[in-house]
Amino acid sequence: MKFFIDTANLKQIEEAQALGVLDGVTTNPSLMAKEGIKGEKNIKQHYINICNIVDGDVSAEVISTDFEGMIREGEELAALHSQIVVKVPIIKDGVKAIKYFSDKKIRTNCTLVFSAGQALLAAKAGATYVSPFIGRLDDNSTDGVQLIEQIVQMYNYYEFETQVLAASIRHTMHIIKCMEAGADVATCPLDAILGLLNHPLTDIGLAKFLADYKKVNG
Ligand code: G3P
Repeated sequence: MKFFIDTANLKQIEEAQALGVLDGVTTNPSLMAKEGIKGEKNIKQHYINICNIVDGDVSAEVISTDFEGMIREGEELAALHSQIVVKVPIIKDGVKAIKYFSDKKIRTNCTLVFSAGQALLAAKAGATYVSPFIGRLDDNSTDGVQLIEQIVQMYNYYEFETQVLAASIRHTMHIIKCMEAGADVATCPLDAILGLLNHPLTDIGLAKFLADYKKVNG
């Protein structure tokens, strides 16, 4: 299971990279805005900065909603760095754009996926990744992890190569549940990744080991 960090914050990306377990980064226009990154030139430079920190894939989202605009933007984003994956929403022109990019060997992340039907279209169009938003489904009284299970099962059955990238992960237990469901990737906030470290018995055990060492070694 690959770990991506879901942020545009360079400090957090550096911290996750330093941990040695990071496989990539996902961003979206809201996360870029949160960091105050604005203007085409600055946004593009920010993507390059992220690519220079991590070794893996970096999702950069188009903001056009028409086919021509998505193609223009996506080609520009893909040309920025070999690690860039073009993030495209699951709308009609988005499906066409994913197919276009797939034929051109430009990798894509199909985003804003909330149903198995949308995930089917993304895979048929040749998306590299599909991003079901599990937290936002949970927010709407719908089981997000169940959607991950459904998509994993469908992709396995039909041998689609599209990787299931569980997104909108809110906490550590989401990561565990996505792992059980067979997601290929979990993109998470830093605190959810670090939350995997937590166990009171580890803290108690370590304190005892250190205290026992001190007793005899001073
Ligand atoms: O990158 C997309 C996704 O992870 C958004 O998460 O928490 O805004 O629902 P959230």
